[in-house]
Amino acid sequence: MKVTQGASSGPSGSRESRVATHSHIKGLGLGEDGTALTGTAQGFIGQRQAREACGLVLDLIRLKKFAGRALLLAGGPGTGKTALALGIAHELGQKVPFCPMVGSEVYSSEVKKTEVLMENFRRAIGLRVREIKEVYEGEITELTPTETENPLSGYGKTISHVVIALKTVKGTKQLRLDPSVYESIMKERVSIGDVVYIEANTGAVKRVGRSDAYATEFDLEAEEYVPLPKGEVHKRKEVVQDVTLHDLDMANAKPQGGQDIMSVVGQLVKGRRTEVTDKLRGEINRVVDRYIEQGLAELVPGVLFIDEVHMLDIECFTYLNRALESTISPHVILATNRGNCVVRGTEYDGGAGSGSQGIVAPHGIPLDLLDRCMIVRTAPYDRDEIREVLRLRTKTESLVIAEDALEKLTDDGMQSSLRYALQLLTPASILARVSGRSQVSLADLEESHSLFIDARTSAHNLVSGSLRASKMI
Ligand SMILES: Nc1ncnc2c1ncn2[C@@H]1O[C@H](COP(=O)(O)OP(=O)(O)OP(=O)(O)O)[C@@H](O)[C@H]1O
Ligand SMILES: [Mg+2]
Repeated sequence: MKVTQGASSGPSGSRESRVATHSHIKGLGLGEDGTALTGTAQGFIGQRQAREACGLVLDLIRLKKFAGRALLLAGGPGTGKTALALGIAHELGQKVPFCPMVGSEVYSSEVKKTEVLMENFRRAIGLRVREIKEVYEGEITELTPTETENPLSGYGKTISHVVIALKTVKGTKQLRLDPSVYESIMKERVSIGDVVYIEANTGAVKRVGRSDAYATEFDLEAEEYVPLPKGEVHKRKEVVQDVTLHDLDMANAKPQGGQDIMSVVGQLVKGRRTEVTDKLRGEINRVVDRYIEQGLAELVPGVLFIDEVHMLDIECFTYLNRALESTISPHVILATNRGNCVVRGTEYDGGAGSGSQGIVAPHGIPLDLLDRCMIVRTAPYDRDEIREVLRLRTKTESLVIAEDALEKLTDDGMQSSLRYALQLLTPASILARVSGRSQVSLADLEESHSLFIDARTSAHNLVSGSLRASKMI
């Protein structure tokens, strides 16, 4: 998953591009002292207690003191549990892995349930590797591929070599490189003016950022500007790489002769494999351990977020218990909107004909796992908070809405759910646009309200409909 760093992406509102359900959430909106800021802090409104609790958990995660535990976000539908988890992801930044999944993802006819969980666990554990490498580093001032006729086929041309000039503060050096380097240059989307380094013995190209000489250019993408490298072009450099254990698993399951740390492990773990097996994971763990012992690498436990956790079954829960206690474990965040319900997988008919109804537990989670959880409750919203969330969403979706329409929408939110009210917003805006208005009016809203009914009304309609039908018979 790609997480853009919310806290540092500048003032919210300046870049509101693609709009998804949670795109207004940019962080947890906490002050320096960990208290929840009032107003629309980083997209979060109300829910102060839960936010402060998440802030504390965030501190524990940063201090690496949260391992072996889990955070459980429990509360009614649409009270912002998923939003809180994504807020935490934003606050953690890009360096800490964050792996979101949904409880029902584990059910596959091809892969074992625990296998899916294991894979996600490993996606959430990062490894920061430091290596000293011989590199050529500098700003690209020239990039010319030289073409020749392809000797094998009559048509087309191939690249025989590529000439790259790299500039540093000390000077410029021109390199004549293999065509394979040109391929990795294309892959990294490098262009003139970028600062890159090329590994001397493998030819791997890494883009560091855009040279800050170009910092006045207008860019649609947020660019990272870096100063012109100091020293010689050819030098030894400490290279820091962030990978997850899952990346290592994958890279070594299909050995392809890669270029960096991945294949370093690949060389150690001999043999050709096409599947990630427990044995392979064990071997990788051993190599990783050795790297850590030698001080070459550092473990960065990230966060595994399991939404709708009541969808897991008893097998998965016992697996979670064990995985939480292993020495390398990510921090686990769970979310559920269920109260008391049956733990999945316990409701089998025990053969004695008793027809067991299954074990009922809070949130459908067995008590032994609940014991390991820190539970944070999300409270239902009051009128003002619903209005604020709606107002924020209208801004995120670049809509203008009349005050009376907003009030009506708030009523809807109170009566059915916040999510329903949020859902109505977009159709209403389209109706407004169709009738040639830029502002969403009360009439648009009422029209979309009549077109799309809420869950309760729909259920009511069905029940009364079937009554009528049964009377007719
Ligand atoms: N405190 C809040 N501030 C701003 N937006 C919020 C807040 N709470 C919820 N929202 C928004 O309301 C919508 C519903 O919230 P969310 O999806 O987080 O609910 P949920 O608790 O995960 O519900 P469910 O149990 O159905 O999964 C989302 O678009 C979310 O971004
Ligand atoms: Mg949710």
